[in-house]
Amino acid sequence: MTKMTRPALEDLTEQARKAAQHSYAPYSKFRVGAALQLTNGKIVTGTNVENVSFGLTICAERAALVRAVSQFGPDIRIAAVAIANLNGLASPPCGACRQVLAEFILPDAPVVFPLADGIRTMAFSEVLPLGFEMKLT
Ligand code: THU
Repeated sequence: MTKMTRPALEDLTEQARKAAQHSYAPYSKFRVGAALQLTNGKIVTGTNVENVSFGLTICAERAALVRAVSQFGPDIRIAAVAIANLNGLASPPCGACRQVLAEFILPDAPVVFPLADGIRTMAFSEVLPLGFEMKLT
């Protein structure tokens, strides 16, 4: 796993928690925030934005990622991710968000998220083994 200090990951988690305060979750009431540490030194956050047509809901992780590319361009690389929710529940990143993060994240990047028994940190390659790749020759 890429070396990030514990205080740096705690700060990233705090930023994810702050982002969750902006959550728009009138349907699930599940308020999620995500913070991305980019290799350019910037931190970009996002929150979940729900929709009455439930399937159009955007997760916090993808909201943050789209924001990061929009702000800093397509060459960004993600060095660490933190996820938090204000409901005191587990919230590992959903499968769709894992695949989307795979596009920009370093395989060794730490991913921090809450589980039922506390905060867990795992390398992205463990969070998404065998993600889809397309290598046409
Ligand atoms: N949600 C996220 O923001 N991230 C995830 O990885 C899983 C789920 C949001 C989507 C929806 O607004 C709410 O949590 C309940 O699924």
